[in-house]
Amino acid sequence: MASSPIIIGSERSEAGLLEGARLLAEGATALDAVEMALQLCEDNRADHYVGTGGLPNARGEVELDASIMVGSSRAFGAVGGLKNFPHPISVARRVLEVLPQHCLLVGEGAELFAEEQGFTRAELLTEESREMFREALIPSRESVEGERTLAAPGDDIYRQAALDLVKRFRPHDGPWGTINVLALDEYGELVVGVSTSGYPWKYPGRVGDSALPGAGNYCDARFGGSACTGRGEMSMRVTGARQVVDALARGLSPEEACREMLADAATLPDKFRAELRVLCLTADGRHGGAAGQTGSTYNVVDVRKGELEVRARVVL
Ligand code: GLY
Repeated sequence: MASSPIIIGSERSEAGLLEGARLLAEGATALDAVEMALQLCEDNRADHYVGTGGLPNARGEVELDASIMVGSSRAFGAVGGLKNFPHPISVARRVLEVLPQHCLLVGEGAELFAEEQGFTRAELLTEESREMFREALIPSRESVEGERTLAAPGDDIYRQAALDLVKRFRPHDGPWGTINVLALDEYGELVVGVSTSGYPWKYPGRVGDSALPGAGNYCDARFGGSACTGRGEMSMRVTGARQVVDALARGLSPEEACREMLADAATLPDKFRAELRVLCLTADGRHGGAAGQTGSTYNVVDVRKGELEVRARVVL
């Protein structure tokens, strides 16, 4: 059954979803709509889990992961641990389009590619995110008073505090996490995009589920697309987004498919357990989301109406 164009997104996709919907209404492709919606989210400095202003790793460096997947071809482009470029979703799209012999570039290679492709470098750590990093990682501000740069004699204490924090993985005040955007265009194409700065204070080089096909992102135009936010290590361990699409293929409803994946993830041991959430959009325009906690929502824009609706996710 054909559906009119639709775009959905996780919490805090509001920064870009209406613009993505506007493009779809003008006949743009889902690929363009998803990229634009996520670019705007990446530019939202009030959001500390994506793009510019994203929270840094344990060394105080912002490392970004993003991916984009096209449902008809299952083509996938992604970057992991990308520093110094503010739109990882666009670099991921460029991997998909101009480097089809590969799916994922990380770290230095991803930076080299972004530069070759003409993307502009930018400082990703804002004053606010730098301050949040300091607040979180320095146990006693007095103990390093006067040593407020990252390279300072207090570095050993600082590094130890960072490592302790990485081990404890204290959850941040919400709403937090990666941003997912899923869109179906008037041509019947389905696209899923994911962008994140990953876990705050993560071990340098840690790449999460957002950059991985099957884990944080999966899209198959025969059945649907799915994307995850939250504790990426869990969606990697259960290949969460792929599980949801497989469940759609078995005939489960969007909500049932999302809930089934979270139920599987919940059976695994994980001493850093934190919230994992998931969304899906079917090839005929149905959608749903699930979360481990009540009060979690997702955003939907039916392109014909052009209004953003907030929907509740089912709770595991
Ligand atoms: N889900 C995002 C991350 O774990 O990095």
